Amino acid sequence: MYQRPAHPATPPTAAQPPGGVALTADPEPGPAAAAGVADEVAARLARGDAAQARAVVSDLVRHTPVLTSRSLGETCGGRILLKAENLQRTGSFKLRGALTKLASLRGAQGVVAGSAGNHAQSLAYAARHRGLACEVFMPQEASVSKVAAVRGFGGTVRLGGDSVDGCVQLARERAQETGAAFVHPFDDPDIIVGQGTLGLELLEDVPDLATVVIPLGGGGLTSGVAGVIKARRPDVRVIGVQAGACAAYPASLAAHEAREARAVPTIADGVAIKRPGGITLPLVERWVDDVVTVDDDDVAEAMVFLLERAKLVVEGAGAVGVAALASGAVKPAEHGATVLVLSGGNVDGGLLAAVAQRHETSEGRRLRIFTRIPDRPGGLARLLTLIAAEGGNLVTVEHVREAVSLHVRQTGVALVLQTRGAEHAERIVEVLAAAGYEIERY
Ligand SMILES: Cc1ncc(COP(=O)(O)O)c(C=O)c1O
Repeated sequence: MYQRPAHPATPPTAAQPPGGVALTADPEPGPAAAAGVADEVAARLARGDAAQARAVVSDLVRHTPVLTSRSLGETCGGRILLKAENLQRTGSFKLRGALTKLASLRGAQGVVAGSAGNHAQSLAYAARHRGLACEVFMPQEASVSKVAAVRGFGGTVRLGGDSVDGCVQLARERAQETGAAFVHPFDDPDIIVGQGTLGLELLEDVPDLATVVIPLGGGGLTSGVAGVIKARRPDVRVIGVQAGACAAYPASLAAHEAREARAVPTIADGVAIKRPGGITLPLVERWVDDVVTVDDDDVAEAMVFLLERAKLVVEGAGAVGVAALASGAVKPAEHGATVLVLSGGNVDGGLLAAVAQRHETSEGRRLRIFTRIPDRPGGLARLLTLIAAEGGNLVTVEHVREAVSLHVRQTGVALVLQTRGAEHAERIVEVLAAAGYEIERY
């Protein structure tokens, strides 16, 4: 866990050209130049450029709702609010930055980007509405629904690159070849200012704002939102949450320079960025009070919680704030509201089903048993009648004769049952055992 050292909340100011055109981060600047650009971004946010961006994007960007979560408040304490950015057009906050960036481009015929999906999706949507061509490089294992959405918005998808970072590099090279404008997913002044529009909504909608918990990948969202909030309310705590499977910020902040994270696959793929940006790292260091990490099990539970209790479909990256609160990595504010930003909702149905099923199992609501029954008419019916009488719901049943030791007059059956919880599952097993069945749970 990283704790921000004390430093002044007010960013330095500098004379700025209007708009974001002069602040482009492409080609990739070295650390010293990037730190200079970071100062310029801080000055832009301090003087209200996010409000200008809001005017530019408001024809397409929704002002997303802030919802009260009574159940999280009861479990974790405090007043807990959810910023439902998963309900944003295109399914994530990325549209804010993409539209802001497009507004700053002069004379471009097209745009090119590398992304795990949400940036690609939003950029394709924004480009279509602004009359530009869009090409994106996405990792081979990118979410099927995100790839389909990019294509649906008229974007050209190139699958390749072993990671988001690899795709960003491919996109940079492509921009040089074709002359299209390269749009970085997070390390770009206009992208950061655009994401800051979400911070403006929080300042307006949550007068007692005390803590904001933000999913942290490359740092564009966190920098923009934190910059806007700290400029007006330096007392608000800003906490970034990374996936433990790929968390570059804690080590980078401690070293005051970008460090590459070891990365393993995670369900929070949107925040799995191996290296902080040259612009975003100093901004996160300046404004973010704390960075914490969460593991995939907590993220999966948070997704199910949001689905079942809040009726919200939230992808892994979008649910890391809830995971951080529920796992105790983040403490709610004692006074005032703690807002958890649900940054996106683009998740494949298959993954969502797998996460929900895993939750059922961990809660004891899925019971898998193997037993042996007499191989004669009515043998299976007797077993199922006993299960039904106890209120167990049959999900699947399979006869197993291969590779199990059976009497010649027996057959094996493997059952998956839905139960009301661990105690109920236990009772079903006891009843079957009392009726003479030898039960193996597997
Ligand atoms: C849903 C979601 N949340 C959070 C992030 C992290 O944003 P950033 O890279 O700006 O930190 C992303 C990035 O793609 C995302 O898709």
